[in-house]
Amino acid sequence: MKAVVRYTYGDESVLEYTDLRDPVPGPGEVLVRVRAAGVDRGAWHIMTGLPHLARLAFGLRRPRDPQLGMDAAGVVEAVGPDVTAFRVGDEVLGVVRGSFAELTIAAERHLVAKPATVSWEQAAAAPTSTITAFDALRTRVTSGTRVLVLGAGGGVGHLAVQVARALGGEVTAATSDPAFAASVGASAVIDYRTEPLTGTYDVILDIGCRRPVRELRALLSPAGSLVFVGGEGGGALAGGMQRQFVVAPFSRQKFVTFVARTTPAALREVAEHLADGTVVPVVDRTYPLAEAADALRQLSGGRVRGKLVLHPGAAG
Ligand SMILES: NC(=O)c1ccc[n+]([C@@H]2O[C@H](COP(=O)([O-])OP(=O)(O)OC[C@H]3O[C@@H](n4cnc5c(N)ncnc54)[C@H](OP(=O)(O)O)[C@@H]3O)[C@@H](O)[C@H]2O)c1
Repeated sequence: MKAVVRYTYGDESVLEYTDLRDPVPGPGEVLVRVRAAGVDRGAWHIMTGLPHLARLAFGLRRPRDPQLGMDAAGVVEAVGPDVTAFRVGDEVLGVVRGSFAELTIAAERHLVAKPATVSWEQAAAAPTSTITAFDALRTRVTSGTRVLVLGAGGGVGHLAVQVARALGGEVTAATSDPAFAASVGASAVIDYRTEPLTGTYDVILDIGCRRPVRELRALLSPAGSLVFVGGEGGGALAGGMQRQFVVAPFSRQKFVTFVARTTPAALREVAEHLADGTVVPVVDRTYPLAEAADALRQLSGGRVRGKLVLHPGAAG
């Protein structure tokens, strides 16, 4: 099969489009023929090995796994022993091991049936970013909750706007593209390039902005939650993870971070919301698999509205 690999950490130039032996599913595993692969920041972090703390998980001196890509939608090609939920020919989406390839392996529990009404591209764009949005918001947003999404135009952000609305929240988007944020459901928008952040919010999702925590606290209601989802450029070692350690002993405000968890329940939630149209991933652009480096370059340049998707076939 064709696949995108790299054997060392580095920028997009380390990527190779090459032939690999077809993978074989083991017990509890499913072999999926990839129809579309979602491109997300996680792939960029795993490619570069940045922040350095990430190398504890992915290989200290060099990447343990040469393949990249987590999100995929495709057709079941074969199933390993003990797989009961899927059969050859089923259309699925989920979180896999190496989606930047023609074939990929997933644990059975990391796949869910693709809703028939959803395109391959949207199905591939959805899993990790939608699960992240739900994990950030699920327990914090009910009817009338005032939510500020910082970085609403990106992969997680544009889905977080939709998830917050689906949970009943009133969503303000801070973004460099107010028209796009409004188009995905924000009821108010702030262009952070030209306007100050204003208002009072029960939940703030800090997805991409890296503003000083004290500035964000000033926008938070007395018992509100500041949720650190991510953000680039926060230092080579920890990548800004240190921002979550806020010392505020006499405050009822909460400061939280998390790592999105792919569970069967989370994937069912993604599929249900895709099927009923409450979550509609926006696919900014598709690239042929062979041009994965260009896609990651566009992503790291911060010029993506919604998500990018790779096609093992031709460009879209
Ligand atoms: N915690 C988790 O489990 C988890 C899971 C997935 C991703 N993440 C992290 O979440 C972050 C976002 O991921 P993503 O896939 O959404 O990336 P993305 O598609 O590149 O979006 C990042 C967004 O950050 C925004 N941004 C950049 N500069 C900003 C500023 N000065 N103020 C406010 N917003 C700014 C931009 O929003 P606009 O386009 O609106 O300007 C951009 O679209 C990454 O750091 C990623 O590693 C964390």
